Amino acid sequence: MQGSRRAHAPPLRSFRQIVEQLSYSEAVLDIELGLCLIYGMHSSPVVSIEQIRKSFGLFEAVRGVSCRIEAGECFGLLGPNGAGKSTLINMIYGASRRTSGKLEVFGMDPNVSSRAIKARLGVVTQENALDEGLTVRENMELYAAFVGVPARERKQRVRDLLGFMNLAHKENEPIQTLSGGMQRRLVFVRALLGKPELVILDEPTTGLDPAVRHLLWGKVNQLKAEGKTILLTTHYMHEAEVLCDRLVIMNKGEVIASGTPKDLREAHASGYVAVFETGEDFAALRTGAGSRSYQVLEDSSGLYVRAPRLEDLLDLQKEHGRQALQLRPSNLEDVFLKLTGPELNVDA
Ligand SMILES: Nc1ncnc2c1ncn2[C@@H]1O[C@H](COP(=O)(O)OP(=O)(O)OP(=O)(O)O)[C@@H](O)[C@H]1O
Ligand SMILES: [Mg+2]
Repeated sequence: MQGSRRAHAPPLRSFRQIVEQLSYSEAVLDIELGLCLIYGMHSSPVVSIEQIRKSFGLFEAVRGVSCRIEAGECFGLLGPNGAGKSTLINMIYGASRRTSGKLEVFGMDPNVSSRAIKARLGVVTQENALDEGLTVRENMELYAAFVGVPARERKQRVRDLLGFMNLAHKENEPIQTLSGGMQRRLVFVRALLGKPELVILDEPTTGLDPAVRHLLWGKVNQLKAEGKTILLTTHYMHEAEVLCDRLVIMNKGEVIASGTPKDLREAHASGYVAVFETGEDFAALRTGAGSRSYQVLEDSSGLYVRAPRLEDLLDLQKEHGRQALQLRPSNLEDVFLKLTGPELNVDA
């Protein structure tokens, strides 16, 4: 009745017109629906984490982390080895129970509704966890059955996904005969079998060659375009920069910075960086850069100088008769090293 009246009504232009044409209760319902559509994404995050902690015996691996992952975004989790990224991920997808704090995934608690949550997400775990005794296709088909892909669709979906990651020619091969990168590719497409709403990728591109890494980035962007939510950990800062809308940097179980890649660059490592070749005498350069309060980092790969403007670095080069190997805008790697790695010393 309501549907047929609306089908013949002229197009509506404003909430006032809606209110005038509908009864009060219908108007309230429509306004609520509209507001839900407009604000729904913001009011109910896919993952909501408040002050979550995880201890292993006396050791606390995650120490009061809070963050929200919104629908449709690619959210990055960065941090050095042992920062607590995988521990946090394991709690999100229900593989491990938190010690304390609040955690909701799709509005449900993974400690209580682990199955319902798992049905809506796909995970690439840090370890491949493939069944070594089975072939590539058998691994995929078994997993497809596990995540509830209807039997009549399984073969085709497996074929499509294997084709996508250039693994079709390996479908009858046992897992042991695959290279490390091929196994990683297989684990990635396996996670997509159930058409998940949330895709969790724990270092998905570790061990992949550059071409396949780019292929995978394309797929992640395609998933984002389809409205899926992505949670990604990576040690490749360029990858985080390419894929992540927002990210947090963890260190020793805590969040030490958060924001968009651009926010983080601007807040922690703005400007330009010159990289000077390793093995040379850097004393004069270090002093020159330090006297201008440029930031300096020296490690086994060379001397890094960060200054506010490109011209500052060009002047520095000229003054010291030195040519930098690289002159570039600062990037997320500079942010990461500043916040978690060897300190950038202001004095040379
Ligand atoms: N089951 C466990 N029992 C005891 N300690 C653990 C366990 N799992 C993780 N840890 C410890 O918790 C800390 C965080 O580990 P986690 O695997 O979360 O780090 P990560 O940030 O994922 O590091 P990586 O970048 O190396 O993958 C580490 O010190 C690790 O040794
Ligand atoms: Mg990890």
